[in-house]
Amino acid sequence: MCGIIGAVADSAINPVLEGLGKLEYRGYDSSGISILSNDEIQTIKAEGKLNNLKKRLSMVPLEGDCCIGHTRWATHGRANVTNAHPHQCGQVSVVHNGIIENYLQLKQQLIQWGHHFHSSTDSEVVPHLINHYLSHEMTQEEAIYKTILQLKGSYALGILINGSSNNLYAIKQGSPLVISEGNDGAYIASDAMALGSDSSKIYYPKDNELIKLNTAEVKLCSGSLNKKIHYINNNQCEKVISKENYSTFMEKEIFEQVDLLKALSVKNDISEYAAINFSKLNKITIIACGTSYYAASVAKHWFEKYANIIVEIDIASEYRYRSPIIIDNELVIFVSQSGETADTLAALRYAKSKKSQTLALVNVANSTIAREANYTFEIYAGAEIGVASTKAFTCQLAIFYKMAIEAAKQRSFINDTELKQLTHNFVQLPYIMEKVLQRCTELQKMAEKLSTYSNVIFLGRGALTAIAQEGALKLKEVSYIHAEAYAAGELKHGPIALLDEHMPVLVIAPKNDLTDKLVSNIQEVQARNAPLFIIGDSSIKQQINLQEDEFFELPEIPESILPIISVIPMQLLALYTAQLLGKNVDQPRNLAKSVTVE
Ligand code: F6R
Repeated sequence: MCGIIGAVADSAINPVLEGLGKLEYRGYDSSGISILSNDEIQTIKAEGKLNNLKKRLSMVPLEGDCCIGHTRWATHGRANVTNAHPHQCGQVSVVHNGIIENYLQLKQQLIQWGHHFHSSTDSEVVPHLINHYLSHEMTQEEAIYKTILQLKGSYALGILINGSSNNLYAIKQGSPLVISEGNDGAYIASDAMALGSDSSKIYYPKDNELIKLNTAEVKLCSGSLNKKIHYINNNQCEKVISKENYSTFMEKEIFEQVDLLKALSVKNDISEYAAINFSKLNKITIIACGTSYYAASVAKHWFEKYANIIVEIDIASEYRYRSPIIIDNELVIFVSQSGETADTLAALRYAKSKKSQTLALVNVANSTIAREANYTFEIYAGAEIGVASTKAFTCQLAIFYKMAIEAAKQRSFINDTELKQLTHNFVQLPYIMEKVLQRCTELQKMAEKLSTYSNVIFLGRGALTAIAQEGALKLKEVSYIHAEAYAAGELKHGPIALLDEHMPVLVIAPKNDLTDKLVSNIQEVQARNAPLFIIGDSSIKQQINLQEDEFFELPEIPESILPIISVIPMQLLALYTAQLLGKNVDQPRNLAKSVTVE
Protein backbone atom coordinates (compact mmCIF):
# COMPACT_ATOMS: atom_id res chain seq x y z
CA MET A 1 0.00 0.00 0.00
CA CYS A 2 1.02 3.64 0.05
CA GLY A 3 4.31 4.38 1.76
CA ILE A 4 4.95 7.54 3.76
CA ILE A 5 8.22 9.07 4.85
CA GLY A 6 9.02 12.51 6.22
CA ALA A 7 12.10 14.18 7.67
CA VAL A 8 13.05 17.32 9.54
CA ALA A 9 16.83 17.43 9.11
CA ASP A 10 19.56 19.18 7.15
CA SER A 11 19.07 18.29 3.47
CA ALA A 12 15.85 16.51 4.45
CA ILE A 13 15.35 15.27 0.91
CA ASN A 14 18.17 12.71 1.32
CA PRO A 15 16.63 10.63 4.12
CA VAL A 16 13.24 10.96 2.39
CA LEU A 17 14.54 9.57 -0.92
CA GLU A 18 16.45 6.85 0.93
CA GLY A 19 13.28 5.93 2.83
CA LEU A 20 11.20 5.87 -0.36
CA GLY A 21 13.76 3.43 -1.78
CA LYS A 22 13.26 1.15 1.21
CA LEU A 23 9.49 1.31 0.73
CA GLU A 24 9.68 0.27 -2.93
CA TYR A 25 9.34 -3.43 -2.11
CA ARG A 26 5.79 -2.82 -0.87
CA GLY A 27 4.55 -2.23 -4.43
CA TYR A 28 3.54 1.20 -5.80
CA ASP A 29 2.68 2.97 -9.03
CA SER A 30 3.90 6.56 -8.58
CA SER A 31 5.85 8.66 -6.11
CA GLY A 32 6.43 12.23 -5.05
CA ILE A 33 7.92 14.61 -2.52
CA SER A 34 7.17 18.04 -1.08
CA ILE A 35 9.91 20.14 0.46
CA LEU A 36 9.85 23.44 2.29
CA SER A 37 12.45 25.34 0.34
CA ASN A 38 13.10 29.13 0.42
CA ASP A 39 9.91 29.66 2.36
CA GLU A 40 7.69 27.92 -0.12
CA ILE A 41 6.51 24.35 -0.61
CA GLN A 42 7.79 22.74 -3.79
CA THR A 43 6.20 19.48 -4.92
CA ILE A 44 7.65 17.12 -7.50
CA LYS A 45 5.90 13.89 -8.56
CA ALA A 46 6.37 11.16 -11.15
CA GLU A 47 4.47 8.18 -12.50
CA GLY A 48 6.03 4.72 -12.28
CA LYS A 49 9.22 3.79 -10.50
CA LEU A 50 11.19 5.92 -8.07
CA ASN A 51 13.93 6.40 -10.65
CA ASN A 52 11.52 8.56 -12.64
CA LEU A 53 11.10 10.83 -9.61
CA LYS A 54 14.86 10.93 -9.04
CA LYS A 55 15.40 11.93 -12.69
CA ARG A 56 12.95 14.81 -12.28
CA LEU A 57 14.61 15.86 -9.03
CA SER A 58 18.05 15.90 -10.63
CA MET A 59 16.78 18.65 -12.92
CA VAL A 60 15.48 20.81 -10.03
CA PRO A 61 17.85 20.37 -7.09
CA LEU A 62 15.92 21.22 -3.92
CA GLU A 63 17.26 22.09 -0.48
CA GLY A 64 15.28 22.40 2.71
CA ASP A 65 15.00 21.03 6.21
CA CYS A 66 11.39 19.81 6.09
CA CYS A 67 10.35 17.19 3.54
CA ILE A 68 7.62 14.57 3.00
CA GLY A 69 7.57 11.74 0.44
CA HIS A 70 5.12 9.10 -0.75
CA THR A 71 4.86 5.96 -2.84
CA ARG A 72 1.28 5.54 -4.06
CA TRP A 73 -0.73 2.36 -4.53
CA ALA A 74 -3.79 3.60 -6.41
CA THR A 75 -7.19 3.27 -4.76
CA HIS A 76 -9.11 6.32 -6.04
CA GLY A 77 -8.08 7.47 -9.51
CA ARG A 78 -5.62 6.13 -12.05
CA ALA A 79 -1.90 5.81 -11.48
CA ASN A 80 -0.68 9.12 -12.93
CA VAL A 81 1.20 12.25 -11.89
CA THR A 82 -1.94 14.23 -10.99
CA ASN A 83 -3.15 11.56 -8.61
CA ALA A 84 0.32 10.96 -7.13
CA HIS A 85 0.97 12.40 -3.64
CA PRO A 86 1.79 14.82 -2.06
CA HIS A 87 -1.35 16.86 -2.64
CA GLN A 88 -0.96 20.54 -2.05
CA CYS A 89 -3.38 23.37 -1.34
CA GLY A 90 -1.88 26.80 -0.65
CA GLN A 91 0.67 26.46 2.11
CA VAL A 92 -0.30 22.89 3.03
CA SER A 93 1.00 19.68 1.50
CA VAL A 94 -0.16 16.21 2.51
CA VAL A 95 0.79 12.56 2.02
CA HIS A 96 -1.84 9.99 2.94
CA ASN A 97 -2.12 6.24 3.37
CA GLY A 98 -5.59 4.84 3.91
CA ILE A 99 -9.03 5.67 2.55
CA ILE A 100 -11.17 8.72 3.32
CA GLU A 101 -14.58 7.12 2.95
CA ASN A 102 -16.62 10.37 3.00
CA TYR A 103 -14.35 12.27 0.61
CA LEU A 104 -17.11 12.91 -1.94
CA GLN A 105 -19.26 14.78 0.59
CA LEU A 106 -16.25 16.75 1.81
CA LYS A 107 -15.23 17.57 -1.76
CA GLN A 108 -18.74 18.86 -2.53
CA GLN A 109 -18.62 21.10 0.53
CA LEU A 110 -15.16 22.41 -0.39
CA ILE A 111 -16.21 23.07 -4.01
CA GLN A 112 -19.12 25.14 -2.64
CA TRP A 113 -16.58 27.09 -0.61
CA GLY A 114 -14.72 27.86 -3.85
CA HIS A 115 -11.96 25.22 -3.80
CA HIS A 116 -10.69 23.70 -7.06
CA PHE A 117 -9.55 20.08 -7.19
CA HIS A 118 -6.99 18.58 -9.54
CA SER A 119 -6.95 14.87 -8.75
CA SER A 120 -9.51 12.06 -8.52
CA THR A 121 -8.14 10.97 -5.16
CA ASP A 122 -9.87 10.81 -1.81
CA SER A 123 -6.73 12.29 -0.21
CA GLU A 124 -6.84 15.74 -1.82
CA VAL A 125 -9.67 16.89 0.47
CA VAL A 126 -7.24 16.84 3.43
CA PRO A 127 -4.91 19.72 2.42
CA HIS A 128 -7.95 21.68 1.21
CA LEU A 129 -9.71 21.35 4.55
CA ILE A 130 -6.60 22.26 6.54
CA ASN A 131 -5.93 25.24 4.30
CA HIS A 132 -9.55 26.33 4.63
CA TYR A 133 -9.38 26.36 8.41
CA LEU A 134 -5.99 28.09 8.43
CA SER A 135 -7.53 30.89 6.38
CA HIS A 136 -10.19 31.17 9.09
CA GLU A 137 -7.70 32.24 11.71
CA MET A 138 -7.12 28.83 13.25
CA THR A 139 -3.71 27.73 14.47
CA GLN A 140 -2.00 24.91 12.57
CA GLU A 141 -2.91 22.39 15.28
CA GLU A 142 -6.53 23.58 15.43
CA ALA A 143 -6.86 23.38 11.65
CA ILE A 144 -5.57 19.79 11.62
CA TYR A 145 -7.81 18.68 14.50
CA LYS A 146 -10.85 20.34 12.92
CA THR A 147 -10.03 18.52 9.66
CA ILE A 148 -9.57 15.05 11.10
CA LEU A 149 -12.82 15.37 13.06
CA GLN A 150 -14.53 15.40 9.67
CA LEU A 151 -12.68 12.43 8.15
CA LYS A 152 -14.34 9.01 8.08
CA GLY A 153 -12.21 5.98 7.20
CA SER A 154 -8.55 5.28 7.82
CA TYR A 155 -5.51 7.46 7.48
CA ALA A 156 -1.89 8.04 8.28
CA LEU A 157 -1.02 11.59 7.29
CA GLY A 158 2.22 13.50 6.87
CA ILE A 159 1.41 17.21 6.73
CA LEU A 160 3.81 19.98 5.78
CA ILE A 161 2.73 23.54 6.61
CA ASN A 162 4.60 26.64 5.55
CA GLY A 163 4.08 29.17 8.33
CA SER A 164 6.03 31.28 10.76
CA SER A 165 8.03 28.14 11.54
CA ASN A 166 8.54 25.09 9.36
CA ASN A 167 6.51 22.26 10.81
CA LEU A 168 5.87 18.70 9.82
CA TYR A 169 2.86 17.05 11.46
CA ALA A 170 1.87 13.40 11.60
CA ILE A 171 -1.39 11.85 12.68
CA LYS A 172 -3.11 8.53 12.08
CA GLN A 173 -6.30 6.58 12.52
CA GLY A 174 -6.20 2.88 11.82
CA SER A 175 -3.20 3.04 9.43
CA PRO A 176 0.42 2.36 10.41
CA LEU A 177 2.67 5.25 11.38
CA VAL A 178 5.95 5.48 13.26
CA ILE A 179 7.88 8.50 14.56
CA SER A 180 11.58 8.58 15.32
CA GLU A 181 14.13 11.03 16.63
CA GLY A 182 17.87 10.74 16.10
CA ASN A 183 21.03 12.81 16.35
CA ASP A 184 20.62 14.32 12.91
CA GLY A 185 16.89 14.88 12.75
CA ALA A 186 13.35 13.64 13.31
CA TYR A 187 11.39 11.36 11.00
CA ILE A 188 7.98 9.88 10.26
CA ALA A 189 7.30 6.72 8.26
CA SER A 190 4.59 4.21 7.51
CA ASP A 191 7.02 1.36 8.20
CA ALA A 192 9.95 1.26 10.66
CA MET A 193 11.97 -0.48 7.93
CA ALA A 194 12.01 2.76 5.92
CA LEU A 195 13.88 4.63 8.65
CA GLY A 196 17.63 5.14 8.43
CA SER A 197 20.52 4.55 10.81
CA ASP A 198 19.66 7.76 12.68
CA SER A 199 16.45 6.15 13.93
CA SER A 200 17.34 3.81 16.74
CA LYS A 201 14.50 5.16 18.89
CA ILE A 202 10.92 4.99 17.66
CA TYR A 203 7.41 5.77 18.81
CA TYR A 204 4.13 4.33 17.52
CA PRO A 205 1.49 7.05 17.92
CA LYS A 206 -1.98 6.11 19.07
CA ASP A 207 -4.99 6.93 16.89
CA ASN A 208 -5.48 10.69 16.59
CA GLU A 209 -2.43 11.73 18.60
CA LEU A 210 -0.95 14.71 16.77
CA ILE A 211 2.83 14.78 16.52
CA LYS A 212 4.59 18.01 15.60
CA LEU A 213 8.15 17.86 14.32
CA ASN A 214 10.44 20.80 13.66
CA THR A 215 14.14 21.48 13.84
CA ALA A 216 13.85 22.45 17.53
CA GLU A 217 11.84 19.52 18.89
CA VAL A 218 9.37 16.68 18.43
CA LYS A 219 6.18 17.09 20.45
CA LEU A 220 3.06 15.16 21.08
CA CYS A 221 0.37 17.86 20.91
CA SER A 222 -2.65 17.09 23.02
CA GLY A 223 -5.00 20.07 23.25
CA SER A 224 -2.98 22.85 24.83
CA LEU A 225 -0.61 20.34 26.46
CA ASN A 226 2.59 19.24 24.80
CA LYS A 227 3.61 15.83 26.06
CA LYS A 228 6.97 14.11 26.00
CA ILE A 229 7.32 11.11 23.74
CA HIS A 230 8.36 7.79 25.27
CA TYR A 231 10.43 6.02 22.65
CA ILE A 232 11.24 2.32 22.31
CA ASN A 233 14.22 0.76 20.53
CA ASN A 234 13.95 0.22 16.80
CA ASN A 235 14.99 -3.37 16.15
CA GLN A 236 14.49 -3.00 12.41
CA CYS A 237 16.96 -0.15 12.14
CA GLU A 238 19.34 -0.22 9.14
CA LYS A 239 19.32 -3.92 8.39
CA VAL A 240 20.71 -3.99 4.88
CA ILE A 241 18.86 -6.66 2.99
CA SER A 242 20.39 -7.78 -0.27
CA LYS A 243 19.52 -10.40 -2.89
CA GLU A 244 22.97 -11.92 -2.36
CA ASN A 245 23.69 -14.14 -5.37
CA TYR A 246 20.06 -14.71 -6.27
CA SER A 247 18.29 -13.19 -9.24
CA THR A 248 15.34 -11.98 -7.19
CA PHE A 249 14.28 -11.63 -3.56
CA MET A 250 11.58 -14.23 -4.19
CA GLU A 251 14.20 -16.78 -5.24
CA LYS A 252 16.43 -15.92 -2.27
CA GLU A 253 13.51 -16.21 0.12
CA ILE A 254 12.47 -19.60 -1.27
CA PHE A 255 15.99 -21.01 -0.80
CA GLU A 256 16.35 -19.38 2.63
CA GLN A 257 13.55 -21.56 3.97
CA VAL A 258 15.85 -24.49 4.75
CA ASP A 259 17.97 -22.43 7.16
CA LEU A 260 14.97 -20.76 8.71
CA LEU A 261 13.34 -24.12 9.39
CA LYS A 262 16.59 -25.53 10.70
CA ALA A 263 16.72 -22.61 13.13
CA LEU A 264 13.11 -23.19 14.14
CA SER A 265 13.67 -26.90 14.67
CA VAL A 266 16.93 -26.41 16.59
CA LYS A 267 14.98 -23.98 18.72
CA ASN A 268 12.64 -26.95 19.05
CA ASP A 269 11.12 -25.70 22.21
CA ILE A 270 7.38 -25.61 22.44
CA SER A 271 7.32 -24.25 25.99
CA GLU A 272 6.71 -20.77 24.57
CA TYR A 273 3.27 -21.98 23.52
CA ALA A 274 2.53 -23.41 26.96
CA ALA A 275 1.40 -19.88 27.85
CA ILE A 276 -1.86 -20.89 26.18
CA ASN A 277 -4.10 -23.17 28.14
CA PHE A 278 -5.13 -25.43 25.25
CA SER A 279 -6.73 -27.99 27.56
CA LYS A 280 -9.37 -25.43 28.59
CA LEU A 281 -10.19 -24.32 25.04
CA ASN A 282 -13.56 -25.16 23.52
CA LYS A 283 -12.71 -23.79 20.12
CA ILE A 284 -10.04 -22.00 18.11
CA THR A 285 -10.93 -19.56 15.34
CA ILE A 286 -8.16 -18.53 12.96
CA ILE A 287 -8.53 -15.36 10.90
CA ALA A 288 -6.25 -14.16 8.09
CA CYS A 289 -6.05 -13.05 4.45
CA GLY A 290 -4.45 -14.53 1.33
CA THR A 291 -1.44 -16.76 1.90
CA SER A 292 -1.76 -16.39 5.67
CA TYR A 293 -5.32 -17.74 5.36
CA TYR A 294 -4.01 -20.84 3.60
CA ALA A 295 -1.61 -21.34 6.53
CA ALA A 296 -4.66 -21.16 8.80
CA SER A 297 -6.35 -23.77 6.64
CA VAL A 298 -3.46 -26.22 7.12
CA ALA A 299 -3.34 -25.42 10.86
CA LYS A 300 -7.01 -26.40 11.14
CA HIS A 301 -6.13 -29.93 9.97
CA TRP A 302 -3.28 -30.20 12.49
CA PHE A 303 -5.23 -28.90 15.52
CA GLU A 304 -8.19 -31.13 14.73
CA LYS A 305 -6.16 -34.23 13.97
CA TYR A 306 -3.52 -34.07 16.72
CA ALA A 307 -5.26 -32.09 19.48
CA ASN A 308 -8.95 -32.74 18.87
CA ILE A 309 -9.88 -29.05 19.04
CA ILE A 310 -12.73 -27.61 17.03
CA VAL A 311 -11.20 -25.11 14.62
CA GLU A 312 -13.03 -22.61 12.49
CA ILE A 313 -11.19 -20.51 9.93
CA ASP A 314 -12.30 -17.32 8.27
CA ILE A 315 -11.15 -14.68 5.84
CA ALA A 316 -10.53 -11.47 7.79
CA SER A 317 -12.55 -9.27 5.43
CA GLU A 318 -15.61 -11.45 6.04
CA TYR A 319 -15.32 -12.29 9.75
CA ARG A 320 -16.67 -9.16 11.39
CA TYR A 321 -19.47 -8.73 8.87
CA ARG A 322 -21.06 -12.15 9.42
CA SER A 323 -22.10 -12.05 13.10
CA PRO A 324 -19.65 -14.78 14.18
CA ILE A 325 -20.63 -16.75 17.26
CA ILE A 326 -17.89 -16.42 19.87
CA ILE A 327 -18.20 -19.01 22.62
CA ASP A 328 -16.70 -19.35 26.11
CA ASN A 329 -13.05 -20.38 26.16
CA GLU A 330 -12.51 -19.63 22.51
CA LEU A 331 -9.11 -18.47 21.30
CA VAL A 332 -9.11 -16.29 18.21
CA ILE A 333 -5.80 -16.37 16.32
CA PHE A 334 -4.84 -13.67 13.81
CA VAL A 335 -2.19 -14.60 11.27
CA SER A 336 -0.41 -11.79 9.44
CA GLN A 337 3.11 -11.64 8.05
CA SER A 338 3.13 -7.83 8.03
CA GLY A 339 1.03 -7.42 11.15
CA GLU A 340 -0.58 -4.41 9.47
CA THR A 341 -3.25 -5.90 7.19
CA ALA A 342 -6.29 -3.62 7.64
CA ASP A 343 -8.90 -6.39 7.39
CA THR A 344 -7.07 -8.61 9.90
CA LEU A 345 -6.58 -5.68 12.26
CA ALA A 346 -10.27 -4.75 12.04
CA ALA A 347 -11.23 -8.38 12.74
CA LEU A 348 -8.86 -8.42 15.76
CA ARG A 349 -10.49 -5.25 17.13
CA TYR A 350 -13.92 -6.80 16.58
CA ALA A 351 -12.93 -9.98 18.47
CA LYS A 352 -11.47 -7.89 21.31
CA SER A 353 -14.68 -5.87 21.51
CA LYS A 354 -16.47 -9.21 22.08
CA LYS A 355 -14.02 -9.98 24.91
CA SER A 356 -12.35 -12.89 23.09
CA GLN A 357 -8.86 -14.06 23.96
CA THR A 358 -6.74 -13.03 21.00
CA LEU A 359 -3.41 -14.28 19.73
CA ALA A 360 -1.33 -12.78 16.92
CA LEU A 361 1.07 -14.76 14.74
CA VAL A 362 3.23 -12.17 13.00
CA ASN A 363 6.57 -11.67 11.32
CA VAL A 364 6.95 -8.02 12.36
CA ALA A 365 7.32 -7.86 16.13
CA ASN A 366 6.36 -4.20 16.56
CA SER A 367 3.45 -4.27 14.14
CA THR A 368 0.01 -2.99 15.10
CA ILE A 369 -1.56 -6.47 15.21
CA ALA A 370 1.30 -7.69 17.43
CA ARG A 371 0.85 -4.74 19.77
CA GLU A 372 -2.92 -5.08 20.07
CA ALA A 373 -3.42 -8.85 20.57
CA ASN A 374 -3.44 -10.43 24.06
CA TYR A 375 -0.65 -12.84 23.09
CA THR A 376 1.85 -12.49 20.26
CA PHE A 377 4.09 -15.12 18.71
CA GLU A 378 6.68 -14.32 16.08
CA ILE A 379 7.32 -16.57 13.10
CA TYR A 380 11.02 -15.55 12.80
CA ALA A 381 11.08 -15.47 8.99
CA GLY A 382 13.19 -12.29 8.81
CA ALA A 383 12.17 -9.41 6.54
CA GLU A 384 10.28 -10.71 3.51
CA ILE A 385 10.92 -8.38 0.56
CA GLY A 386 9.35 -10.30 -2.34
CA VAL A 387 5.71 -9.22 -2.53
CA ALA A 388 4.58 -12.83 -3.00
CA SER A 389 4.88 -14.48 0.38
CA THR A 390 7.02 -17.65 0.48
CA LYS A 391 9.22 -18.05 3.55
CA ALA A 392 6.66 -16.34 5.78
CA PHE A 393 4.15 -19.04 4.78
CA THR A 394 6.38 -21.97 5.74
CA CYS A 395 7.41 -20.24 8.99
CA GLN A 396 3.75 -19.60 9.83
CA LEU A 397 3.14 -23.31 9.22
CA ALA A 398 6.15 -24.27 11.36
CA ILE A 399 4.87 -22.23 14.32
CA PHE A 400 1.36 -23.64 13.92
CA TYR A 401 2.88 -27.13 13.85
CA LYS A 402 4.68 -26.48 17.14
CA MET A 403 1.53 -25.02 18.66
CA ALA A 404 -0.43 -28.09 17.57
CA ILE A 405 2.14 -30.34 19.27
CA GLU A 406 1.83 -28.32 22.48
CA ALA A 407 -1.97 -28.49 22.19
CA ALA A 408 -1.82 -32.26 21.60
CA LYS A 409 0.42 -32.63 24.65
CA GLN A 410 -1.79 -30.58 26.92
CA ARG A 411 -4.99 -32.31 25.79
CA SER A 412 -3.38 -35.80 25.87
CA PHE A 413 -5.15 -36.67 22.65
CA ILE A 414 -2.28 -38.61 21.15
CA ASN A 415 0.15 -40.89 22.96
CA ASP A 416 3.81 -40.23 23.75
CA THR A 417 5.12 -42.24 20.80
CA GLU A 418 2.96 -40.26 18.38
CA LEU A 419 4.04 -37.02 20.02
CA LYS A 420 7.71 -38.00 19.69
CA GLN A 421 7.11 -38.89 16.04
CA LEU A 422 5.60 -35.45 15.34
CA THR A 423 8.64 -33.79 16.91
CA HIS A 424 11.04 -36.07 15.03
CA ASN A 425 9.28 -35.25 11.73
CA PHE A 426 9.74 -31.55 12.42
CA VAL A 427 13.48 -31.98 12.93
CA GLN A 428 13.70 -33.93 9.62
CA LEU A 429 11.73 -31.30 7.74
CA PRO A 430 14.51 -28.89 6.62
CA TYR A 431 16.66 -31.77 5.36
CA ILE A 432 13.84 -33.17 3.19
CA MET A 433 13.09 -29.63 2.02
CA GLU A 434 16.73 -29.18 1.06
CA LYS A 435 16.60 -32.31 -1.13
CA VAL A 436 13.55 -30.96 -2.94
CA LEU A 437 15.22 -27.59 -3.51
CA GLN A 438 18.34 -29.28 -4.88
CA ARG A 439 16.21 -30.65 -7.73
CA CYS A 440 14.97 -27.21 -8.77
CA THR A 441 16.11 -27.62 -12.39
CA GLU A 442 13.43 -30.30 -12.88
CA LEU A 443 10.85 -27.66 -11.97
CA GLN A 444 12.45 -25.22 -14.40
CA LYS A 445 11.66 -27.73 -17.16
CA MET A 446 8.11 -28.13 -15.94
CA ALA A 447 7.76 -24.33 -15.87
CA GLU A 448 8.78 -24.17 -19.55
CA LYS A 449 5.78 -26.29 -20.47
CA LEU A 450 3.41 -24.65 -17.96
CA SER A 451 4.28 -21.15 -19.22
CA THR A 452 2.72 -21.96 -22.60
CA TYR A 453 -0.78 -22.10 -21.10
CA SER A 454 -3.09 -19.23 -20.08
CA ASN A 455 -5.03 -21.12 -17.39
CA VAL A 456 -4.20 -23.82 -14.85
CA ILE A 457 -6.32 -25.81 -12.40
CA PHE A 458 -4.60 -26.98 -9.20
CA LEU A 459 -5.91 -29.99 -7.26
CA GLY A 460 -5.10 -31.34 -3.82
CA ARG A 461 -6.82 -33.28 -1.06
CA GLY A 462 -7.01 -32.90 2.72
CA ALA A 463 -4.54 -30.34 4.09
CA LEU A 464 -2.95 -30.25 0.63
CA THR A 465 -6.04 -28.55 -0.80
CA ALA A 466 -4.74 -25.42 0.95
CA ILE A 467 -1.34 -26.04 -0.67
CA ALA A 468 -3.01 -26.32 -4.09
CA GLN A 469 -4.75 -23.00 -3.34
CA GLU A 470 -1.45 -21.43 -2.28
CA GLY A 471 0.20 -22.82 -5.46
CA ALA A 472 -2.54 -21.29 -7.63
CA LEU A 473 -2.26 -17.97 -5.78
CA LYS A 474 1.54 -17.88 -6.21
CA LEU A 475 1.29 -18.67 -9.92
CA LYS A 476 -1.33 -16.01 -10.67
CA GLU A 477 0.40 -13.37 -8.53
CA VAL A 478 3.76 -13.51 -10.23
CA SER A 479 3.13 -14.95 -13.72
CA TYR A 480 -0.40 -13.51 -14.29
CA ILE A 481 -1.50 -16.94 -15.57
CA HIS A 482 -5.06 -17.54 -14.46
CA ALA A 483 -5.05 -20.32 -11.86
CA GLU A 484 -7.74 -21.77 -9.59
CA ALA A 485 -7.56 -24.55 -7.05
CA TYR A 486 -10.03 -27.16 -5.88
CA ALA A 487 -10.24 -30.07 -3.50
CA ALA A 488 -9.75 -32.86 -6.07
CA GLY A 489 -13.08 -34.50 -5.18
CA GLU A 490 -14.87 -31.29 -6.18
CA LEU A 491 -13.65 -31.42 -9.77
CA LYS A 492 -16.54 -33.51 -11.01
CA HIS A 493 -19.07 -31.19 -9.35
CA GLY A 494 -18.52 -28.42 -11.88
CA PRO A 495 -14.97 -27.42 -12.82
CA ILE A 496 -14.60 -30.58 -14.94
CA ALA A 497 -16.67 -28.75 -17.57
CA LEU A 498 -13.60 -26.56 -18.21
CA LEU A 499 -11.30 -29.45 -19.11
CA ASP A 500 -9.95 -29.81 -22.62
CA GLU A 501 -6.49 -29.83 -24.23
CA HIS A 502 -6.02 -26.11 -23.35
CA MET A 503 -6.73 -26.46 -19.63
CA PRO A 504 -3.84 -28.09 -17.79
CA VAL A 505 -4.39 -29.60 -14.36
CA LEU A 506 -1.64 -29.71 -11.74
CA VAL A 507 -2.17 -32.30 -9.01
CA ILE A 508 -0.36 -32.60 -5.68
CA ALA A 509 -0.39 -36.35 -5.17
CA PRO A 510 1.99 -37.55 -2.45
CA LYS A 511 1.92 -40.98 -0.92
CA ASN A 512 -0.73 -41.02 1.78
CA ASP A 513 -4.17 -42.43 2.62
CA LEU A 514 -5.76 -40.45 -0.19
CA THR A 515 -3.40 -41.47 -3.02
CA ASP A 516 -5.77 -44.05 -4.52
CA LYS A 517 -8.66 -41.61 -4.49
CA LEU A 518 -6.45 -39.04 -6.19
CA VAL A 519 -5.45 -41.50 -8.91
CA SER A 520 -9.16 -41.80 -9.80
CA ASN A 521 -9.41 -38.00 -9.98
CA ILE A 522 -6.31 -37.91 -12.18
CA GLN A 523 -7.80 -40.49 -14.52
CA GLU A 524 -10.94 -38.35 -14.85
CA VAL A 525 -8.67 -35.51 -15.97
CA GLN A 526 -6.81 -37.68 -18.50
CA ALA A 527 -10.05 -38.94 -19.96
CA ARG A 528 -10.89 -35.32 -20.90
CA ASN A 529 -7.57 -34.77 -22.73
CA ALA A 530 -6.47 -32.10 -20.27
CA PRO A 531 -2.66 -31.79 -20.00
CA LEU A 532 -1.49 -33.14 -16.63
CA PHE A 533 1.28 -32.01 -14.30
CA ILE A 534 1.88 -34.02 -11.16
CA ILE A 535 3.91 -33.26 -8.06
CA GLY A 536 3.70 -36.62 -6.40
CA ASP A 537 4.75 -40.04 -5.35
CA SER A 538 6.69 -42.33 -7.71
CA SER A 539 3.86 -44.91 -7.61
CA ILE A 540 1.67 -42.44 -9.54
CA LYS A 541 4.19 -42.30 -12.38
CA GLN A 542 3.87 -46.07 -12.75
CA GLN A 543 0.10 -45.77 -13.18
CA ILE A 544 -0.18 -42.62 -15.28
CA ASN A 545 1.71 -42.07 -18.48
CA LEU A 546 3.60 -38.77 -18.14
CA GLN A 547 6.63 -37.15 -19.72
CA GLU A 548 9.73 -36.07 -17.75
CA ASP A 549 8.67 -32.41 -17.62
CA GLU A 550 5.18 -33.28 -16.44
CA PHE A 551 6.12 -35.14 -13.27
CA PHE A 552 8.08 -34.07 -10.20
CA GLU A 553 8.71 -36.87 -7.76
CA LEU A 554 8.21 -36.06 -4.09
CA PRO A 555 10.53 -38.00 -1.80
CA GLU A 556 9.02 -40.02 0.99
CA ILE A 557 7.64 -37.44 3.43
CA PRO A 558 5.98 -38.09 6.79
CA GLU A 559 2.30 -37.19 6.53
CA SER A 560 2.38 -34.51 9.26
CA ILE A 561 4.93 -32.31 7.46
CA LEU A 562 3.68 -32.90 3.90
CA PRO A 563 2.07 -29.45 3.57
CA ILE A 564 5.31 -27.65 4.46
CA ILE A 565 7.38 -29.61 1.94
CA SER A 566 4.90 -29.81 -0.90
CA VAL A 567 4.52 -26.05 -1.13
CA ILE A 568 8.18 -25.77 -2.22
CA PRO A 569 7.62 -27.08 -5.79
CA MET A 570 4.60 -24.73 -6.02
CA GLN A 571 6.74 -21.71 -5.11
CA LEU A 572 9.52 -22.69 -7.52
CA LEU A 573 7.09 -23.36 -10.37
CA ALA A 574 5.50 -19.93 -9.92
CA LEU A 575 8.92 -18.25 -9.79
CA TYR A 576 10.33 -20.00 -12.88
CA THR A 577 7.14 -19.62 -14.92
CA ALA A 578 7.03 -15.88 -14.17
CA GLN A 579 10.72 -15.49 -15.00
CA LEU A 580 10.26 -17.32 -18.33
CA LEU A 581 7.44 -14.90 -19.11
CA GLY A 582 9.68 -11.95 -18.22
CA LYS A 583 7.63 -10.74 -15.25
CA ASN A 584 8.86 -8.67 -12.30
CA VAL A 585 8.46 -11.37 -9.64
CA ASP A 586 9.47 -9.21 -6.68
CA GLN A 587 7.00 -6.44 -7.44
CA PRO A 588 4.10 -7.91 -9.40
CA ARG A 589 1.68 -5.43 -10.91
CA ASN A 590 -1.19 -4.13 -8.75
CA LEU A 591 0.00 -5.91 -5.60
CA ALA A 592 1.12 -4.39 -2.32
CA LYS A 593 3.18 -6.10 0.35
CA SER A 594 1.22 -4.71 3.22
CA VAL A 595 -2.48 -4.21 2.53
CA THR A 596 -3.34 -1.37 4.89
CA VAL A 597 -6.71 -0.45 3.41
CA GLU A 598 -9.96 -2.43 3.65
C1 F6R B 1 0.37 -13.57 -1.25
C2 F6R B 1 0.42 -12.62 -0.18
C3 F6R B 1 -0.86 -12.11 0.35
C4 F6R B 1 -0.76 -11.93 1.87
C5 F6R B 1 -2.03 -11.23 2.39
C6 F6R B 1 -2.02 -11.11 3.90
O1 F6R B 1 1.64 -13.94 -1.70
O2 F6R B 1 1.48 -12.25 0.27
O3 F6R B 1 -1.93 -12.92 0.01
O4 F6R B 1 -0.60 -13.17 2.46
O5 F6R B 1 -2.13 -9.96 1.83
O6 F6R B 1 -0.90 -10.40 4.32
P1 F6R B 1 -0.39 -10.49 5.81
O7 F6R B 1 0.05 -11.88 6.06
O8 F6R B 1 0.72 -9.49 5.88
O9 F6R B 1 -1.57 -10.12 6.68
